[in-house]
Amino acid sequence: MHTTVGIVGAGPAGLLLARLLHQAGIDSVVLEARDRDYVEQRQRAGILEQVTVDALRSAGAGARMDREGIVHHGIELRFDGRSHRVDFPGLADGRNVMVYAQTEMVKDLIALQLAEGGPLLFEAEVLAVEQPVDQPDGAPLNVRYHHQGREQILTCDWVVGCDGFHGVVKNAIPESLRRTYEREYPYSWLGILADAPPVYDELIYAHSDRGFALASMRSATVSRLYLQVPNGTDPADWPDDRIWDELDQRFALRGAPGWRLTRGPITAKAVLPMRSHVTEPMRHDRVLLAGDAAHIVPPTGAKGLNLAAADVIVLARALARLRRTGSTDLLDAYSDTCLQRVWRAEHFSHFMTTTLHKDPAQPPFDTRLQLSQLARIAASPHASAELAQNYVGVPIA
Ligand code: FAD
Ligand code: PHB
Repeated sequence: MHTTVGIVGAGPAGLLLARLLHQAGIDSVVLEARDRDYVEQRQRAGILEQVTVDALRSAGAGARMDREGIVHHGIELRFDGRSHRVDFPGLADGRNVMVYAQTEMVKDLIALQLAEGGPLLFEAEVLAVEQPVDQPDGAPLNVRYHHQGREQILTCDWVVGCDGFHGVVKNAIPESLRRTYEREYPYSWLGILADAPPVYDELIYAHSDRGFALASMRSATVSRLYLQVPNGTDPADWPDDRIWDELDQRFALRGAPGWRLTRGPITAKAVLPMRSHVTEPMRHDRVLLAGDAAHIVPPTGAKGLNLAAADVIVLARALARLRRTGSTDLLDAYSDTCLQRVWRAEHFSHFMTTTLHKDPAQPPFDTRLQLSQLARIAASPHASAELAQNYVGVPIA
């Protein structure tokens, strides 16, 4: 099989890229290691920036999102037993975010791809991307993959690694040219889904003596809640009552003793490690990286999925321009264009994470600094605007 663009991975990055290329008249094949059910059920992100929302609409994948998604005009910060709302439209040029789960976005894009797009193969694990031997420069690349019990080859003019943090495509960039930047955090998140109405009609990010907590949602009847827990935590050590009791304490407000979250059956429970990571450059010759394959952020800024979408919007434009005009100028700029946005999001996610979490080794001095920073955001329109503009996302250059 031969294609113009071989896409490895059917997460948000790979699926959106395939759709945007289809609209630009560029053929592609998507190879995904896992089965469809697994990909559609994997619980992950929930917040879409305006740029992502607009891209899904213009990709023709926005109809269900517009019916079922919930537009949010702000977030609440809770610290020192009080709450402060950050208003997005007023502080970030009228922009908002949309609550629409990654699982739903992925389902919409898979349905479109199977109905109208090029091949999308599930249970097709890519083993390696190889330069063909004894072939002239510019000869198609070989993507070696395992599918239906045997090894097969897909030849491609371009290969895009949308294969996540543990992907293999980045190995096709010579190690001597790859730079990686990393930070690990001394805490994880315990994330739950519960059949319980959301605590509040916007998200609440809470700083407390007991550690960070986040209240998000999936619908008017389903809550998504997170608790900071030590690295290595076993979810089995957190029976449902312990989780609800802990959430009640971390979200407690001064002057509202006895306030409790509405409880309901917990339907999913998992521990997520936190990491920052960037691999540079995001292109080497005809191999490109997009999304988590190139960069990871801790989820406190809700940026991971949105960065993945932004990468492939930039890449689809560059490949469309090449097809239309023969110019590689946008492709040549791909890595630098994306990395500017990536590093902004890395900084913001690190800032949100370290301002809101409690490092187990943190001296009281650092806690006072965190509270001072949060108080500054609450008191200063400039400081609030900085948070709001980063949260709703910077426009694509
Ligand atoms: P992925 O979604 O990881 O997709 C990569 C795909 O490639 C997968 O389907 C994988 O099966 C496939 N693949 C991998 N290797 C191969 C191979 N060799 N051959 C073929 N296919 C392969 N972000 C937020 O903003 N908020 C959150 O709450 C949040 N929670 C998260 C929780 C978890 C557990 C994780 C891992 C991430 C979370 N993120 C969150 C981040 C966000 O989900 C990711 O940034 C987003 O999924 C990135 O999309 P992607 O398409 O780049 O990668
Ligand atoms: C989510 O809804 O899963 C979510 C929302 C905001 C975040 C992280 C996760 O910062």
